[in-house]
Amino acid sequence: MRKALITGITGQDGSYLAEHLLGLGYEVHGLVRRVALEQPDQRLGRLTHLGERVVLHAGSLESYPSLFQVLSRCQIDECYHLAAQSFVAESFADGFSTMNTNSNGTHYLLAALRELQPGCRFYFAGSSEMFGKVRETPQVETTPFHPRSPYGISKVAGYYLTLNYREAYQMFCVNGMLFNHESPRRGFEFVTRKITHNVARIKFGLASELRLGNLEARRDWGHAADYVRAMHLMLQHSEPDDFVIASGETHSVREFCELAFAEAGLDYLDFVKEDPTFYRPAEVDLLVGNAAKAKRVLGWQPAYSFRELVSQMVAHDLELAQRGAMAEMFL
Ligand code: GDD
Repeated sequence: MRKALITGITGQDGSYLAEHLLGLGYEVHGLVRRVALEQPDQRLGRLTHLGERVVLHAGSLESYPSLFQVLSRCQIDECYHLAAQSFVAESFADGFSTMNTNSNGTHYLLAALRELQPGCRFYFAGSSEMFGKVRETPQVETTPFHPRSPYGISKVAGYYLTLNYREAYQMFCVNGMLFNHESPRRGFEFVTRKITHNVARIKFGLASELRLGNLEARRDWGHAADYVRAMHLMLQHSEPDDFVIASGETHSVREFCELAFAEAGLDYLDFVKEDPTFYRPAEVDLLVGNAAKAKRVLGWQPAYSFRELVSQMVAHDLELAQRGAMAEMFL
């Protein structure tokens, strides 16, 4: 039985990836912060349905010895490094801890793997935020980087660390260059979920408006369940390589609002207010990726369309609101 370790297993992608790997017959291990084990109700919600099927290890990306200890305890074939401070806006508020967790954390993990399990295949969760102020459209694997936030910079550092461990130590290290991917499990701070859960709150009379930042920013949004399949495929390839994963479509935040409110029979113009409080000091205006290489080399294909994604997220949040779950969580 193949064994995989997922860092960031409690997040959106981690939970979908754990499900996917369990379905393929893997033994799945996860690295979590100790506080998550102490507060399972608040922090392990996305894994509840998997019960005892995943083995969780307490450890911290900020501590090389703790990663060393975890890797000493479990011999793994594949390591999916998804854990990060992943909210771009927060990286402007505290760039130092974002850089520390995302860049040094990746370096500690690679160094510990090199020491203990150099044959383990390693996946790094790179990001389309690395392209930032884009130099060409659509973005592909060879598009030059121009990150626009401490988060983007930390991911560029992680990308090059991953590449360097591949080249310097012949380790099987790959970079996934994933564009935005969403789902009903998305965190509430990200714009798609902020929109869909407020659509539901407005529909059920729990809120009367939605304040957003830049409505004209354009993103390439796919479904997280599709994107975790690509992560797995990258580690099954014969050679370590880097791959863009994207839908190939770009939509503005405004378009997302229009569609999401319409799903609930509402007009977004009646509720959405643009609020400069949510503007970023430097914005990424346009992202759209071309995943032709992943489709050709890995045989990856997404199953969800943009419309299906929006529709599923709104339906999920309407259902939560109907059950009263949203009122408890977000009032
Ligand atoms: N979060 C948020 N909140 N974003 C807003 C808002 C708001 O109220 N109003 C407008 N936006 C705009 C942001 O300025 C940005 O241009 C866009 O909506 C998307 O923001 P997020 O959903 O926060 O995602 P992101 O694109 O910054 O980053 C996400 O995708 C990356 C992949 O490209 C994150 O998941 C990153 O971790 C990931 O790497």
